[in-house]
Amino acid sequence: MSEPEIAAKVPAVLELEPGTYWWCQCGRSGNQPWCDGSHKGGAFSPAELTISEKRTVALCQCKRTAKAPFCDGSHKTL
Ligand code: FES
Repeated sequence: MSEPEIAAKVPAVLELEPGTYWWCQCGRSGNQPWCDGSHKGGAFSPAELTISEKRTVALCQCKRTAKAPFCDGSHKTL
């Protein structure tokens, strides 16, 4: 399987309202950290993220995290 593209080497820190979100796993989206459909034709698909209570999250944009979709600090090694 090919590697995802690195969208950014910093997480996206966002305050999210309750709801369902689709996190980009391929790194190609122009609307990071969210899927915009740019993965089509490739090896990746978006990951569903459900938020039940309003909270602040740090979402991975380097696409190398082991705790997807959350940042685990992996961008510091790139
Ligand atoms: Fe990256 Fe959809 S655009 S997973």
